[in-house]
Amino acid sequence: MSGSGQHAVFPEQASRSAGLFARAGKVMPGGGTRHPIIFPPHPVYAVEGRGCRLTDVDGVERIDFINNFSCQIHGHGHPEVTRVITEQAGRLTTAILPTEQELRLAELLAERVAGIDQVRFCNSGTEAVMIALKAARAATRRRLIMKMEGGYHGQYPEMECSFISEPHNWGPEEEPAKVPLSEDTPANLFDNVVVAPFNRVEATRALIRRHAAELAAVIIDPFPSRMQFVRAGEEYLRMLREETRAAGALLIFDEVFCFRLDYRGAQGRFGVTPDLTTLGKIIGGGLPIGAVGGRAEVMAVFSARGAGALPRVFHGGTFTANPMSMAAGLRSMQLLTPAAFADLQAKGDRLRSGLRDAAAASGLPVQVMGDASLTGIALSARPFDGYRDMITACGGNHRERMFALHRHLLNEGVLISPQGALAGSTPMTDSDIDFTVEAAGRAFAALARDDAPDRARAAE
Ligand SMILES: Cc1ncc(COP(=O)(O)O)c(C=O)c1O
Repeated sequence: MSGSGQHAVFPEQASRSAGLFARAGKVMPGGGTRHPIIFPPHPVYAVEGRGCRLTDVDGVERIDFINNFSCQIHGHGHPEVTRVITEQAGRLTTAILPTEQELRLAELLAERVAGIDQVRFCNSGTEAVMIALKAARAATRRRLIMKMEGGYHGQYPEMECSFISEPHNWGPEEEPAKVPLSEDTPANLFDNVVVAPFNRVEATRALIRRHAAELAAVIIDPFPSRMQFVRAGEEYLRMLREETRAAGALLIFDEVFCFRLDYRGAQGRFGVTPDLTTLGKIIGGGLPIGAVGGRAEVMAVFSARGAGALPRVFHGGTFTANPMSMAAGLRSMQLLTPAAFADLQAKGDRLRSGLRDAAAASGLPVQVMGDASLTGIALSARPFDGYRDMITACGGNHRERMFALHRHLLNEGVLISPQGALAGSTPMTDSDIDFTVEAAGRAFAALARDDAPDRARAAE
């Protein structure tokens, strides 16, 4: 194990985690309140985090290589972030007056990010997307939003459209079908949505041109975690920038996850500046947050014209810009200097190169993708650069196989996301990375053994 001496056995019906999950099933449908973190046959319950290590209720310590879906970029209990949170908790947690912390975090983001002149805060990435779409529709006085097939933008019903689609329902690639995440979603909720194929330049260009007169915005996560961090190509992003501008529509980058690619965000890394940017996760220092930033002319839709007048777009929220999240976020972002990003990049490169070697040695077909502190694992040797490619390359049982890899890694003392994403954190050392690589080598080999009967059957 990674240091506690306690050996992990997962799943273990006699464990405290299994007991808690059995109790949870009685009072929470599905046994929890976050679908993406519940894995079969029972989740592991956390009790304490220190740096890049997380200890569960059975006393097992693991390297936390996902940091709550990437938001804890300084790991757990960073002394400076903890100090600021503790001081703020003693001074003021919420109020109906704004605070200077909010202003200072806004100034920091506007200073660092090319596409952000002005910013407004909210409580989650989902809310940030919802508010950005309201702003885009008000600024353009148009109704249509284009999103990418396979793109995840939180649990906003309109944006769940074609987050998950499959060969039997996805329709033609040049005009993907609008597939609801839940069959109970009213179809007319998607009347104002157009779905485009991620990274397919000419098909997307044609769709933008066809809907130009009514298109309010194109929203894209340029480095999507749910596509194992395939990056949107340079040509694709340049095309989106040119075509949206020509159509009089806005370009929105959803950087809720991928903002941590660079000191200046994903847009700084990719050299394309959107009109609006949605943020969340790392900018809250581990506390709940979301934000929408953008060009001043667009953000003007939030300004009220005169005392008592309503703005074009209303935006409030009881916990919006609460001083706890603002203080933690500000300190956390201040600690993320260019040197900190360079270190995260070097550690990410070391991890990816180690994982590639470990996969090759194990004989398991694996692609290790990603950049900077974000790494994605795909259990397939076939390269892909789009959503349909990925589904075809990884096969219909990818989700189950990824659960199996996740389970092997849990027993090796490493926590990744059940979907195959890894996120580094500033307290990680080279030896933490090397430990993870060795653990992954054994997990890849175990999965190759699990797969062997399937391969034998396929060969018959
Ligand atoms: C690209 C993207 N947008 C939006 C969201 C939603 O953020 P939240 O979970 O804070 O609502 C996520 C969450 O992972 C995300 O990855």
